[in-house]
Amino acid sequence: MSVSANEVGGSAKTSVVVLAGVTRTFMPGRPLFTDLNLCIRAGERVALRGESGVGKSTLLNLIAGLDVPDSGTVSVGGRRIDTLSADERARFRRDSLGFVFQAFHLLPHLSAVQNAMLPLLLKGQGEARAQAAAGDLLTQLGLAARMYAYPGELSGGEQQRVALARALVHGPQLVLADEPTGNLDPATARTALAALIDTCTSRGAALLMVTHSAEAAAVADRRLVLSAQGLAEST
Ligand SMILES: Nc1ncnc2c1ncn2[C@@H]1O[C@H](COP(=O)(O)OP(=O)(O)OP(=O)(O)O)[C@@H](O)[C@H]1O
Ligand SMILES: [Mg+2]
Repeated sequence: MSVSANEVGGSAKTSVVVLAGVTRTFMPGRPLFTDLNLCIRAGERVALRGESGVGKSTLLNLIAGLDVPDSGTVSVGGRRIDTLSADERARFRRDSLGFVFQAFHLLPHLSAVQNAMLPLLLKGQGEARAQAAAGDLLTQLGLAARMYAYPGELSGGEQQRVALARALVHGPQLVLADEPTGNLDPATARTALAALIDTCTSRGAALLMVTHSAEAAAVADRRLVLSAQGLAEST
């Protein structure tokens, strides 16, 4: 069952994310989504699941302006992003978005703390303050002792926590997280999830996270399932 924007999240006015009639096709004749609608309200925490290959990462990429729809509109913070130039979309991501990628995407030649402080430097903050803020967040995430390690020296779980710090450090209004606790052992996953939720809540940031974890889904305000039939609410 595909659902309308109003059914999946209420009024577009108060929404930080609005997708309306979005269609994305990679293989001719086999659209991944057709007429997809979604609203996410400011500060809302939404969990998204669905089978592998159904298009969860693609959906996040569309909201992040890393991909553009074939038709339909994508608005974030009341602004159409599907019509922006590539440069404008990059600026939008830098200023308004935190993204935890499925494959981390840490910069290999930068240490953990340098990776985590990057969004602050890109926003023009001085190095000392940026490093202190990133260091605090990494410490909260249990990485105080690994601050100066390079991604190649970190475990998958440690890299994931650095990616989490990098997504949260500049206090974005929207955080997109692609299986943010997927590579972590249960105890570390719980810590990372709590840090993600707490930071989003204290800063009023909306969160859309792809997750297969029942624990992560349980702390979300809403749970969505993506299937070949489209997006649907689940309990
Ligand atoms: N840039 C691209 N070019 C061609 N096909 C693509 C591209 N990006 C994604 N696809 C295809 O679209 C489909 C959905 O991919 P996507 O990565 O969004 O799935 P997913 O739901 O995130 O899967 P997983 O749970 O395995 O991460 C896949 O069949 C993938 O091969
Ligand atoms: Mg994916």
